[in-house]
Amino acid sequence: MTTTVIRGGLVVTAAEEIHADVLIEDGRIAALADRRSAAATAYTADREIDATGRYVLPGGVDAHTHMDFPFGGTFSSDDFETGTRAAAWGGTTTIVDFAVQTKGRALREGLDRWHAKADGRCAVDYGFHMILSDVNESTLKEMDALVGEGVTSFKMFMAYPDVFYSDDGQILRAMQRAAANGGLPMVHAENGIAIDVLVEQALAAGRTDPRHHGEVRKALLEAEATHRAVQLARVAGSPVYIVHVSAQEAVEQLAAARGMDLPVFGETCPQYLYLSTDELAEPDFGGAKYVCSTPLRPREHQAALWRALRTDDLQVVSTDHCPFCFTGQKELGRGDFSKIPNGMPGVEHRMDLLHQAVVDGKLSRRRWIDLACATPARMFGLYPRKGTLAPGADADVVLYDPHAEQVLSAETHHMNVDYSAYEGRRLTGRVETVLSRGETVLDRGTWTGRAGHGQYLPRGTCQFID
Ligand code: URP
Ligand code: ZN
Ligand code: ZN
Ligand code: ZN
Repeated sequence: MTTTVIRGGLVVTAAEEIHADVLIEDGRIAALADRRSAAATAYTADREIDATGRYVLPGGVDAHTHMDFPFGGTFSSDDFETGTRAAAWGGTTTIVDFAVQTKGRALREGLDRWHAKADGRCAVDYGFHMILSDVNESTLKEMDALVGEGVTSFKMFMAYPDVFYSDDGQILRAMQRAAANGGLPMVHAENGIAIDVLVEQALAAGRTDPRHHGEVRKALLEAEATHRAVQLARVAGSPVYIVHVSAQEAVEQLAAARGMDLPVFGETCPQYLYLSTDELAEPDFGGAKYVCSTPLRPREHQAALWRALRTDDLQVVSTDHCPFCFTGQKELGRGDFSKIPNGMPGVEHRMDLLHQAVVDGKLSRRRWIDLACATPARMFGLYPRKGTLAPGADADVVLYDPHAEQVLSAETHHMNVDYSAYEGRRLTGRVETVLSRGETVLDRGTWTGRAGHGQYLPRGTCQFID
């Protein structure tokens, strides 16, 4: 049994900030105590880490990633090895990735495929959600078994007709099943049927550039779908979690539902907080780098998202990490924006981009950790093993230098993608050292982790529901 003590840092969790020393035994937090206390002085360990001037944080929990994900005739460019390594570089020590049901096939087959993709390759721990592409009697039965074995959340798409799309009846049935088995329905809320009409009209009129991706995927069609998802969940008596919320009008739907005490939850992503249709309009097809769905919105929407993160109308920040290289992948959509693979890289930068919001006075330190660690862990049944620093929790620990300066760039990032969505952006704060279950995977900027260290996490059910 190896023991470690982290001394002299400021421990920040969603609940408190204390100058405390942290004792780690056998991959778990054994104890933590005020650094002037007799208890802390008495800690002895094989190894001491000096955290003077650093924050000591729980490892990040990114509840929305797509490693090795099929889309638009290609696969996202990070696999579980490169993607989880990049996550760890950025202080994220748990991901929840989306296993995909192939239309016409069993959930089990898709889940087995995702286990095969991830097994033995991950640098940090991982769990799975299940994407339902084909809700039918046998899918519904399989949902019960999946909840029982720790795949407790199910994503359905109101978007992407003919690919992942479920109609309202299918969504209602799956929500009814989730209401009975404790699963959490997750919805991609965009009216894909209406959007496809607008896509066809745009292309017919010669509007083929990436920026038209943003124009046809209207905020009103996100708000309408969000409203519909909430009403379907009410009818089913289930909770609902809306993924990648980007439009102010959609936030208003969530706020109204939460104002009625409905079990309705929402997530946004750093790209919606920091990027906008200005990036989508980059010339020479450069906007393709920023094509994702829901799309980037006009800059005016950002204030509503930041406000919702403060008021708890949005509870989680995930990345929706789904990278496609510009060369050879995004380029599939030259001359037709609808053929650009949807998705953006980001798993490495979530903790830092949210810390910048702390520096800028938009979020408190505790809210930063709440949004990035504690609440995603609770939402997806991983708390308090993940998402906090407390006795018994996994020793997933980040030493964070709040004063370091860094410049984001494809030259220096660790994601397997040939561009950065944040090229040249200056940030204050940087991840310095990362422990995953007590093992150092990043040591003051040197990679010491390994593929295969990461373990599969069977999850409990949503901890916001009785
Ligand atoms: O553009 C995105 N978000 N791609 C990944 C698939 C999804 O809808 O989350
Ligand atoms: Zn201090
Ligand atoms: Zn989606
Ligand atoms: Zn996604």
